[in-house]
Amino acid sequence: METTESKWTNIKTFELYENLRQYFRPANARIVRAVLTGYAGSKHSLLEIGSGIGELVQLVPEYKNQVQQTEISIEFAKAHKAKNPDSNIIVASAYQLPFAQHSIDAVVGYSVFDVFHNLIEAVKETSRVLRDKGYFIHFLDMQANNQTIIAKYQKNGLVPFPVLAKDLWVRGIRFYTLEDLMTFAKTLRPEENAFFEAYCENPVAGYAVLSKNTKAIGRIHDILLPLRPKAKEVVHIADHFENGLETALLNNSFDIIFAGIKKDAVVVENKKPYLGKQCNVFQNEIGFSTSKYDPQIAAEIGTDKVKVEAGLHVVVARKK
Ligand SMILES: C[S@@+](CC[C@H](N)C(=O)[O-])C[C@H]1O[C@@H](n2cnc3c(N)ncnc32)[C@H](O)[C@@H]1O
Repeated sequence: METTESKWTNIKTFELYENLRQYFRPANARIVRAVLTGYAGSKHSLLEIGSGIGELVQLVPEYKNQVQQTEISIEFAKAHKAKNPDSNIIVASAYQLPFAQHSIDAVVGYSVFDVFHNLIEAVKETSRVLRDKGYFIHFLDMQANNQTIIAKYQKNGLVPFPVLAKDLWVRGIRFYTLEDLMTFAKTLRPEENAFFEAYCENPVAGYAVLSKNTKAIGRIHDILLPLRPKAKEVVHIADHFENGLETALLNNSFDIIFAGIKKDAVVVENKKPYLGKQCNVFQNEIGFSTSKYDPQIAAEIGTDKVKVEAGLHVVVARKK
């Protein structure tokens, strides 16, 4: 069984996350705090799966002694300890948690269950360690991981291409069979054929590069239009994770208490990281973010303040 996934073998991915997260922590923290306050009392034992370098506890530091943090990557756990020397983090896999059955009051994950190739096994292991009526709580602040989806379809010989939504964010993946693509590519101009041959050599790398370039996605979209009737599947990335998690929970003795987006907003000082951005409204919903200057907001809150709005995908489930 694969225990981790490729993107999360590189600690630099946290730096990419930081580029976005630094703006939204004040609002994310309010959402996380409100949910934890509702479902995890101060005497409850909390277990966090996939803590990385400590985002959850950074948001709600009052939980740092109450949450037992765990992480599969030894490298990340070391980096985590270097950043937070008094952290209680231990190395552990979501598929094999070193805790007795029925020993935990609440299992928490922050942007982590979307990276699991085997969501069902992770949910089963969560259920094993949870006491009856214990809670599973998951937050997603970034775009759901697409590599688990690509890996799943790649096993069936399908090649992924990013699909842009109207707002120009990549929100979907369209899959073609390798055979259909190669046959079609041969009918194209030599440089286009060469592109598809190179892309199909390593579709995961090809997808990663292409999905960062909106113009190129548009060009490939146009070239592939005649092949569209042969597309095998179009997957909406966020829906795929949300439905997969809910199904895994429902099939493994959980009742779902809440599943959806929770939003909050907060007005904060216009200092680092906002200062110099010439924007006074920063919005993020699971990694789809915008910022703008709104003169009306400036009149309401003053030019020394900015408004931070966040939407996290939240799942709260109770073990039967
Ligand atoms: C998207 S990161 C999120 C980390 C952290 N919660 C955060 O929000 O910054 C996913 C984390 O899950 C960890 N992970 C991946 N597979 C795992 C597994 N099988 N068991 C436990 N953790 C795992 C990765 O090493 C990584 O730290």
